[in-house]
Formats: sequence, structure tokens, C-alpha cells
Amino acid sequence: MFDQPGSILLAGASGGVATALGVEVLQRFPDAELLTISRNAEGPQAFTPTRHLQADLTDPDSVAGVRDFVRASDDPPDWVICCCGILHTEDHGPEKALDQCEEGWLLQSMRINVVTHIHLAQALAPALKPSHPLVWASLSAKVGSIGDNHLGGWYSYRMSKAALNMFIRNLSIEWGRRLDHCCVVAVHPGTTDTALSKPFQKNIPEDKLYSASTSAERIVDVLAGLDEERNGRLLFWDGEVLPW
Ligand SMILES: NC(=O)c1ccc[n+]([C@@H]2O[C@H](COP(=O)([O-])OP(=O)(O)OC[C@H]3O[C@@H](n4cnc5c(N)ncnc54)[C@H](OP(=O)(O)O)[C@@H]3O)[C@@H](O)[C@H]2O)c1
Repeated sequence: MFDQPGSILLAGASGGVATALGVEVLQRFPDAELLTISRNAEGPQAFTPTRHLQADLTDPDSVAGVRDFVRASDDPPDWVICCCGILHTEDHGPEKALDQCEEGWLLQSMRINVVTHIHLAQALAPALKPSHPLVWASLSAKVGSIGDNHLGGWYSYRMSKAALNMFIRNLSIEWGRRLDHCCVVAVHPGTTDTALSKPFQKNIPEDKLYSASTSAERIVDVLAGLDEERNGRLLFWDGEVLPW
């Protein structure tokens, strides 16, 4: 049901995984309409979307603009992939211990890892049609799994991804009631060679650090293989269900 998207909305479209996803979906579904959203005005450089919108999804005022952007198509998108996320900036890295936790960084992590996804969903919601099947995938992270946390550390990233996972679970229930066919999931892309993981790659075995194109291929495989049984799940890059 979900394996042949005719239109795809990709948000956070300038990031490493997102760029590779754009290339991948256009290769697999050359006739699909591809809509992209990014803070970047020019849009993605590695591929040409059908339409692009510059928007900062951390800003509540972005919702109205994204709403109009989505509504300019006749139908809602078949797939929505939200790639927005942050692990570090020049000034902040993931905390190793409690005494490094800081309100400002936690809130910034929440804004980028969670609120962007909420704003995108709020913008999309009015365009949804009960009979139109929908796949929603938020790129999350395995370290956001509470059940799988045996190492500790990375407080703000873990907490914000755990919050994103709860958002996805809630959304899957709400849209599961509203739509005849939908699958709302969080996906862990695997450790991928992008700007986000760059400072943390030295302890990753070479065969566990994946190129963005490999991760994109796997994510598209997972989405194309979804069924409604998977609605409301956190999925590993091979489609395995991870514990919350
Ligand atoms: N790389 C990994 O190893 C890995 C592992 C597990 C999970 N993930 C998750 O996968 C997703 C993509 O990661 P990536 O590796 O491609 O990282 P990336 O290259 O740093 O891309 C991050 C994306 O987040 C958006 N973003 C960053 N800062 C933002 C801000 N201040 N306001 C709004 N949006 C902002 C950017 O969107 P625009 O610039 O286009 O607006 C960008 O596309 C993230 O959610 C990440 O947590 C990655």
C-alpha cells in the first residue's frame, strides 16, 4: 500500500541524510513530486525538487507558510520524512555527566529535535484526507530509546529524542483514528557519516559507520516495506522494531 509514493515531502532537506534521501527517492520514484523544506533559501544542491520552501521549523510562525506550501498540491503527500535534528554545535556537545547539563542547551535540543517535527505535523494536518494513505517518518535515534539505554550520557540528545519518540507514538494514535490507512514511525538511520556524527566517529568501527547514501537506501527500503502493523513504532534501519 505504501510502496509507490507519488509525492514525498522532505523536511530538514539540506542535512547529510536528507540530501542522500532526496537523491535516493528521485532515483527510485522518478515520477514522484518531491517537496522540500529547509532553512536554506536555495534548497538542496544535490538534486532538484519539484518545489522548495525556505522555512525554519523551530519557529511557530513557519506553520502557516508550510500549510500553504503543502496545500498548493492537489493531494497531501504520500510520504513525509522529517530529518530535523541536532547533536552538537560549535559551543555545545553532548553531555557526559549530570554537571554538564544546562537548561539552554536542553531547550535548544528540544526545539530542534522535537518542536520542528510538531510544527511540520501541525502544518500538514489540515491537508490530510481520511481516504488518502500516509507514511510519516521522523528520523530519531536508537539512543532515544529508554529501554535500550545501558550507557548513559548524552542527556539532552537522549531526552529530546525520547520526547520525539513519544510525540510519534501519540501522533500515530491520533492519525491512526483519523485516517483509513496510515503508518507513523520513528526511524533510527544508523550511525551515518554526516556533520552531525563527525566529532564522534573515532570510536565507531569502520563497518558500523555508514555512508549517507547507504543509510538513505535503507530508510527508503524500510518506508517502502511498511504496513499498518508498524504504525507507532521506533524502527532500526533494517526495519526491526526497537524498544521505546
Ligand atoms: N548521522 C547520524 O549518525 C545519525 C544517527 C542517528 C540519528 N540521526 C538523526 O538523523 C537526522 C538527520 O541527521 P544528519 O546526520 O543528516 O544531520 P545533519 O546533516 O546535521 O542534518 C540535520 C538537519 O536538521 C536540521 N537542523 C539543524 N539545525 C537546525 C536548526 N537550528 N533549526 C532547524 N533545523 C535544524 C537541518 O535542516 P535544514 O538545514 O535543511 O533546515 C538539517 O537538515 C537527525 O534527526 C539526527 O538526529 C543521525
